[in-house]
Amino acid sequence: MPILSGHARTAGVLGWPVAHSRSPRLHGLWLQRHGIDGAYLPLPVRPERFADAVRALADLGFRGANVTIPHKEAAFAVCDHIADSARRAGAVNTLVFRDGRIEGSNTDGFGFLENLRAGAPGWRPESGPAVLLGAGGAARAIAAALLDAGCPRLTLVNRTPARAEALARALGGPVSVADHPALEDAALLVNTTSLGMAGHPPLELDLSPLPAGAVVADIVYVPLETGLLASARARGLRAVDGLGMLLHQARPGFSAWFGVEPVVDQELRDFVAADIPRR
Ligand code: ATR
Repeated sequence: MPILSGHARTAGVLGWPVAHSRSPRLHGLWLQRHGIDGAYLPLPVRPERFADAVRALADLGFRGANVTIPHKEAAFAVCDHIADSARRAGAVNTLVFRDGRIEGSNTDGFGFLENLRAGAPGWRPESGPAVLLGAGGAARAIAAALLDAGCPRLTLVNRTPARAEALARALGGPVSVADHPALEDAALLVNTTSLGMAGHPPLELDLSPLPAGAVVADIVYVPLETGLLASARARGLRAVDGLGMLLHQARPGFSAWFGVEPVVDQELRDFVAADIPRR
């Protein structure tokens, strides 16, 4: 922990529990790297205390906060201004306290797209159809970002089809729901489910129908290389892991709170991934 002055800028992550969050480590390295007089703290807050806690942080001079499970939907009610990114994603993950107002946005879609641009150079959202596995909160943020960025067609595949149907309706645009992933013309396949995560069942999917230029992305980052990503790489496909999304989604908050555009690089990846199993 650095020695702070009376002018120190403060931010943190609101969750319940929050001890598992890697955000303090991630923002902490950026603060240190840029020599910023500031701190980013874990902020464990019970759901029933959430709104009061957010207002108290603003009163205490915090610059803002990240919001994680289980507060991402409750955060709408406490915001004075809500960005389109949060409305489209159906969740708030970043709060900025500015000019006496509480502003809410969602940076997951930004993080997902930036990670793909960095991890699969040449890939563009308008490159071709995308197939998304899952229909939860992460799927919604990613699907909205892909559509807004020009993805021509999106197929949702989910264990519970009714959830995928509801998401497709909420999203609007060129979105369909399928029982099985049709991979033949996909430019992008994304896993947004918990399958493949340590302690969860594996994701069993035959990737052989995917075109040679397709990109495979996973939002799971424990382990860093999921079975899905390993089989994509084994087929010579470009594979983009979930850790990068976590790192990139943190950038807009950091720059709003601390006034510096941070960079995602290998050193940051290695530092945040230090205790994450590779396989
Ligand atoms: P999040 O908001 O983080 O995306 P979520 O809302 O719990 O989390 O969504 C998790 C996704 O993983 C859902 O699409 C879920 O499918 P259901 O909508 O059918 O629940 C999917 N999922 C979780 N466990 C699964 C399993 N064993 N098999 C298939 N899909 C699974």
